[in-house]
Amino acid sequence: MTTALSARGLSKRYGKTTALDGVDLEVAEGELVGLLGPNGAGKSTLVKIACGLVGPTAGEAHVAGAPAGSRAARASTGYLAELFRFPSWASAGEVLALHQRLARSDGGAAERGALLERVGLTGEDGRRVGTMSKGMQQRLGIAQALIGAPRLVLLDEPTSALDPGGRRTVRDLLIGLREQGVGVLLNSHLLSEIELVCDRVVIIDGGRVVSEGRPQDLTAPGGVEVETSEGVRRLPDARREDVPRIVRELVAGGAEVYGVRVMTGTLEDAYLAAVVGRDG
Ligand SMILES: Nc1ncnc2c1ncn2[C@@H]1O[C@H](COP(=O)(O)OP(=O)(O)OP(=O)(O)O)[C@@H](O)[C@H]1O
Ligand SMILES: [Mg+2]
Repeated sequence: MTTALSARGLSKRYGKTTALDGVDLEVAEGELVGLLGPNGAGKSTLVKIACGLVGPTAGEAHVAGAPAGSRAARASTGYLAELFRFPSWASAGEVLALHQRLARSDGGAAERGALLERVGLTGEDGRRVGTMSKGMQQRLGIAQALIGAPRLVLLDEPTSALDPGGRRTVRDLLIGLREQGVGVLLNSHLLSEIELVCDRVVIIDGGRVVSEGRPQDLTAPGGVEVETSEGVRRLPDARREDVPRIVRELVAGGAEVYGVRVMTGTLEDAYLAAVVGRDG
């Protein structure tokens, strides 16, 4: 299988600041990878290297087999920058048409219409950016990143301004991209979103990978809660395998069992454990 993104030993220094310090990261085709980390961890720097905007101090990155920044790599990459701004006087259609020219896409009006529909902006072709809400602009930004059917999509905090409905739209869109075999690197501070949609999570801190894995493997078991006639009892060290025994013993002891819940930690817990004490 070709990898959508492959980064090896990436380091980046800006003067005295080390933004990245030997990062290895892969995004397979059809894989959704969440990139997490505190402010200043190096997430945006990594994404900028992947799309060729920033050159690494050491190491290398490849997009769909081509060196990052090369014409072939750029043709395979879609990118939404954090804090992007489109000109307020341009219409949605004009913004997309400009980026079609930049991406050398010949998709024309059909591609623009399909992309606006995909991000929930159907029929907003003539709407000026200056009259759009933040969330609408963000949706337009995501549509822009999908021009030319890229093999790798890099989204730097694409849902920060979206309402819950907008987040659902983007989540469905990301699942659609996965089905089409597109690799997605999604940079976000919204851990519950990442947990819902990502196949794998990479946590970086101080320019290094401090944890990675599937969300369900990173989250720790959180004990078992049993509701009986005496109230709710928390058994913090119990696991799923212990549930039949726990219930048997309670029933044998004369208790009525109304409910049993196997608890798991959240991705937020796992994240905070991975970056704990390194903040600031
Ligand atoms: N152009 C630049 N010149 C100098 N330093 C920079 C530059 N870009 C980033 N840095 C520094 O590199 C480090 C990593 O920044 P980066 O933007 O990659 O972090 P981030 O993980 O995306 O943070 P955030 O969550 O705030 O977006 C920070 O210390 C930042 O100040
Ligand atoms: Mg950033």
